Formats: sequence, C-alpha cells, structure tokens
Amino acid sequence: MTIFSVQSTIFTRASVAILSSNGLKRFSFASSFSSNALYSSPLPKTKKRRFPIVSAVDIGGVTIARNDVVRDDDPTNNVPDSIFSKLGMQLHRRDKHPIGILKNAIYDYFDSNYAKQFEKFEDLSPIVTTKQVKCSPPSKACIFLSPISVSNFPFVWCQNFDDVLVPADHVSRSLNDTYYVDPQTVLRCHTSAHQAELLREGHRRFLVTGDVYRRDSIDSTHYPVFHQMEGFCVFSPEDWNESGKDSTLYAAEDLKKCLEGLARHLFGGVEMRWVDTYFPFTEPSFELEIYFKEDWLEVLGCGVTEQRILKQSGLENNVAWAFGLGLERLAMVLFDIPDIRLFWSDDERFTSQFKKGELGVKFKPFSKYPPCYKDISFWISESFTENNFCEVVRGIAGDLVEEVKLIDSFTNKKGMTSHCYRIVFRSMERSLTDEEVNDLQSKVRDEVQRKLNVELR
Ligand code: DAH
Repeated sequence: MTIFSVQSTIFTRASVAILSSNGLKRFSFASSFSSNALYSSPLPKTKKRRFPIVSAVDIGGVTIARNDVVRDDDPTNNVPDSIFSKLGMQLHRRDKHPIGILKNAIYDYFDSNYAKQFEKFEDLSPIVTTKQVKCSPPSKACIFLSPISVSNFPFVWCQNFDDVLVPADHVSRSLNDTYYVDPQTVLRCHTSAHQAELLREGHRRFLVTGDVYRRDSIDSTHYPVFHQMEGFCVFSPEDWNESGKDSTLYAAEDLKKCLEGLARHLFGGVEMRWVDTYFPFTEPSFELEIYFKEDWLEVLGCGVTEQRILKQSGLENNVAWAFGLGLERLAMVLFDIPDIRLFWSDDERFTSQFKKGELGVKFKPFSKYPPCYKDISFWISESFTENNFCEVVRGIAGDLVEEVKLIDSFTNKKGMTSHCYRIVFRSMERSLTDEEVNDLQSKVRDEVQRKLNVELR
C-alpha cells in the first residue's frame, strides 16, 4: 500500500498554481449520517436518494441549518448535501475511533513533555472566512464562526487564507479545490485557519484539531473530509536570549526537537529526515519524513511562523513555530487501515476493532468484496475539471465509489479533447449487484451530461 499521497498538507510550493489551473487534480464525496444529523428531512426518502437530506447539524452545541450552508441561490456555493452531513461528525472526538485514539496519543506527548502548557481546541467551527470581514450587523455567513470569533463581533477576521498569508492566486482558493458557502465563507481546508484568530485571543501555545474539507480526487487515500492537527508555540525574547542563538534558529531547533520526539512517541525508534519546503505561513519551512516499511513517509509540515502573522496579532517582539499534520495519513499507517473510507464506516466489524488508548492495534480487514469497473468517455468542455467530475460521481455513488481514474485522453483534429475514466465501484460492507452498479453508472452518465456540459461518447 502506498500512502505517500494520503491527504495531509497542500500548501507546499508544488501546489502554488494559478486559480484557473485545470490540472488533473483530485476530489471526493461522502455518505452515511450519524449523531450529527439533528433533523432528517421531512421529505420522503425515496429509493433514488443515496443521501437522505439532513436539514440541520450540530457543531459544538450550535445548530446549523442546511439551507444556510447548501445554497442554490448563490452561484459560488458548491457544498453538496453529502458534505453538509459530515459537519459536526467530529471523528477526532471519539475516543474509540482510530482518529480519536491518535489525537489522544499526541495530546499525551504534549501533556507529558510540556507540562500541559499546550491548550487544546477541538471544537472550533469548520465554517470560516476567507478574508478579513467586518460585519455589523453580522451577515448570515458570520453566525457560523467559532465562538471565539463570535465574541469578537463586529470584527471577524479571516481565517482560511488571508490570515495565514495564502497568496491571492493560490490554487487552494479556487472553487475547484475548496468548498465555498459564499464568496467570503468556506469550509476550512486546513486547521491553520485558526492560528491567527487564537493568537489575537491571547493564546500562545495550542493544539487545534478538526475536520477539514477539500474537493479532491477519488481513491483509497483521498476523501473530501479529513482531520488535521495544528500546533503553535510562541516564544519571548527571554527564551532565546539565554541560549545565545538567533530567534529563528532557536525556534527552528526547538520545533525539530519537539517533532522528532513526537514521531518517536508515535512510531518508536524510526529513522527520520528533514526536508526543506515552502509554506506561505512559515519561513523556513520543513517537512518531517520517517522511514517506514521501506519507504520515506511524509509525516507533517511545519516551520517558523512568518513575522507578519505574529505582527498582525501584536506579537512583533516574538518568534513562533507551527506545524500541521493529517491524522488520517498517520492513522492509516499506524493502524494498517487500507482505505480512507473505512474511517467513516459504522460497520461493527470496523468499529469494534479499536479501543480507547490503544494506539497502533493492527486492523484486520474483513472480507474484501469484489470491485466492479465501469468506463465512461466524453468530450470535455473548457470548464471541465476532474474534481467536478469526481464530485458528481461521489454525489451519486457515495462511499460505494472506490476510485476514479483517467485511463485515456486524446485531442482530435478539430481540437476536441476526450477523456475516458474508469470508475471502480466497491462496497466495504457487502457485494454489489450488477443491477445496482448499472443503475449507478447510468445515473452518473445522465448527471455528468447535465451538470458538466460534456458530450458523452
Ligand atoms: N496547513 C498546511 C496544509 O494543510 C499544513 C501546515 C504546514 C501547517 C506548515 C502549519 C505549518 O502550521 O507550519 O497543507
């Protein structure tokens, strides 16, 4: 199993591209509902609807109505029902779930090595702003902001991009990559979205864990919702003066020591290496890799925080480090979980295998059901993107789609480009019938034509 591409970080140099980029990027979708669904739709659940519509969800005690997040009246809005239903599920807060077990193991490391100095936030709303917004009276979008921001009314700052210096033309800002509620409100695509807001609130050492949302491709390591943990640590001149080191070097060394310790805490005595990289919010920036199962595995991104971020929070005389890690990526390795969809499964054969406090129990796969392959070919239009295509597929097939892969592409003499995708349907819980798969595929064909302005071949 290769887990190099498991979702984790996106803000490295490689992803700095212009907004109109129409590369063969990735995306996904979701299915089952659980505790977060406050009210099921009064609409009758027809057999046709794979996603019963959830009309409201609860995020940390705040009720959020579907119609404020999934909106037909705003052309910017690209949040489907399947994504809305995931808001508030908070797998990271379930002590017997691999994501929660891993989070707790990281907490243990920080608590025991830093005498509980790191405050923990795990209930901040994933609905965040894209830029600095001043709203008085608060706009609808603003009412979703985390309690911290709400307490700051009438000023609400942003969060996902501007606050952490993500460039205006960064690909992550595009509708193709990020779920927008409206032009100023998104589902956070990284937990770094909370760095600046927490600093402004006066917090100096903290860990933020939460669900993050990205439109992406479909395969065993990509899912449109996953979990990240952000760490942040501010130092004062007394800290580095004593060491005789320059502040940036002091912070970088402290950061590396902290994270090497964390990697050993999680993985045992592994070989590690540091790789220089780029993030908009840190300079210098690094990735930590560990040698695991005969391959180098990227564990996290980190760096010394850009002074501008500290300055905008009144901390010009300080230095800080920050890191961000993807919990699914690490949990797949630590628990031997082969498919990212499993994290969302309510199947007892999955859930019963994990116990509170037991990190690294190896998952025993229950029987693998047969895959079913279906190909679809069409002439694409200029606006076509693979993420949009995958969104349609996941919207219809939910977690029954295992992979979507471009298997052929060519341009004819008239300049028309054809794409052929192979869709792999497979349930993790049962065998799919031919009839069911044919039905899904036929719906995909209809919907792709209707929504994506492509011509089927
Ligand atoms: N937010 C980054 C991402 O999702 C991860 C990250 C990298 C967070 C470096 C940090 C950091 O705090 O310093 O790609």
